[in-house]
Amino acid sequence: MRALLFLTALTFIVSCKQAKKSGEIEDTPMQTEVEAEDLAIRGEKLLTTYCYQCHDPKMSIDNILAPPMIAIKNHYIMEETTKEAFVADMLIWMSEPRAEKSKMPDAVEKYGLMNHQVYPDSVIIGIAEYLYDNEVEQPDWYQKHHEEMHGSDEE
Ligand code: HEC
Repeated sequence: MRALLFLTALTFIVSCKQAKKSGEIEDTPMQTEVEAEDLAIRGEKLLTTYCYQCHDPKMSIDNILAPPMIAIKNHYIMEETTKEAFVADMLIWMSEPRAEKSKMPDAVEKYGLMNHQVYPDSVIIGIAEYLYDNEVEQPDWYQKHHEEMHGSDEE
């Protein structure tokens, strides 16, 4: 398990570097397995600190400022989506949110386009890995809303 974690962490780093286009590639040192685990723990903390300002699952449907992370997972992670692809997608979105790139155009319409938030790649990777690997808190209203929005009509 630890070896697997280590391997996947390495794969992310490699694939994320490839996914980055802007030329501001950071030099990521070799990860140890402990660091990989730390990254996931850190991911949760980063998610609540930086993303839940707007994506807070505890907010009511009328007060939430952005779709809850469960909705983001549902739109970004399909059955065939690999962790590497999801991490890369997150890096791409966070590097410059643009309506044309959105996988959730309804959310852009409803909440307005996400402001560009600048975080180091390591922060985004930590959050994305955490999101991919873990169940995220789901607002009470989400299930009903999801069914109303999507019903039997799967996107
Ligand atoms: C200041 C408010 C705010 C913060 C903070 C914020 N977001 Fe968002 N985010 C939004 C809004 C509003 C939307 C919905 C509109 C959109 O998709 O652009 C959104 C949408 C998204 C989407 C869906 C993009 C799509 O395809 O349309 C992703 C992915 C995302 N946020 C990731 C994050 C992550 C990760 C963090 C924390 C590092 C974060 N956001 C922090 C406001 C925020």
